[in-house]
Amino acid sequence: MNLKNKTVLVTGSSSGIGRATAVACAQKQAVVLVHYRKNEKGAKETLDQVNKFSSGQIFKSDLSNPDNVKQLFVQINKEFKSLDCLINNAGEFASGPFEDLTLWQSQFSNIFFSQVYTAVEFLNTKAAVTPRKIVNISSAYGSLNMGIADAPHYAAAKAAVNSFTCTLAKKVSPDVLVNAIAPGYTWTPNWGEMTEVEKKPFTDLAKIKRFVKADEVAAMAVQLLENDAVTGEIITVDGGLHLQDIL
Ligand SMILES: NC(=O)c1ccc[n+]([C@@H]2O[C@H](COP(=O)([O-])OP(=O)(O)OC[C@H]3O[C@@H](n4cnc5c(N)ncnc54)[C@H](OP(=O)(O)O)[C@@H]3O)[C@@H](O)[C@H]2O)c1
Repeated sequence: MNLKNKTVLVTGSSSGIGRATAVACAQKQAVVLVHYRKNEKGAKETLDQVNKFSSGQIFKSDLSNPDNVKQLFVQINKEFKSLDCLINNAGEFASGPFEDLTLWQSQFSNIFFSQVYTAVEFLNTKAAVTPRKIVNISSAYGSLNMGIADAPHYAAAKAAVNSFTCTLAKKVSPDVLVNAIAPGYTWTPNWGEMTEVEKKPFTDLAKIKRFVKADEVAAMAVQLLENDAVTGEIITVDGGLHLQDIL
């Protein structure tokens, strides 16, 4: 797919990987639908960067609620004749005890169901091109054979993202190609302030001995949008994490 003038919705593009992906799509002259939940200032900053290369528009929605997602797509359909690509990036990592049932539910809503809701609505929108694209942002923690002691809810929700990606790819091919990216530790505002000493336990786990950059994940997302021969894949962008060493 040539992204010029194609419409791309990037969920959670008020910061981090979402912002980097929105800007990378704009650099390919795509029309970018910038989405946020709370961080309006961040969404405006993203749109400013998008506007340097192409054009876009801002949309607000909490994607963990299916009614909100329906409403979001009503708005999008009003403003745009078609929607060509969906980058399912929005998500908020949370850790906590295994026994916390509320956290199981909130992480599955935030991380997993939000992506299902947007995918279902995306498939109901009109297409200007074939194949259209969905890229789900998963996580290295979603690898099916690996649990994470501090964040079992997040890891399981991302594992569900991987499974849903592969199933959806089978269901909607050849009209829509569906892939996921599984980033490793990626430096975004989500990590807050950290000293080099605090970063070391994370960077030591990666062969590249540093955090992945948001731009590096974004470049893979653009690659998946442009390449029409890849579907049903979970592409790892983690700097060579030694997953077996993570507790
Ligand atoms: N950073 C990492 O190390 C890493 C590693 C693996 C995977 N990931 C995944 O990459 C994605 C982006 O993470 P990031 O590090 O770039 O985080 P970030 O900078 O904190 O950005 C998260 C984005 O998701 C949005 N969001 C969160 N919950 C939402 C909800 N319920 N409804 C709508 N929007 C919501 C936020 O919107 P507002 O701020 O506007 O509320 C924000 O735009 C996530 O799916 C994350 O799980 C990150």
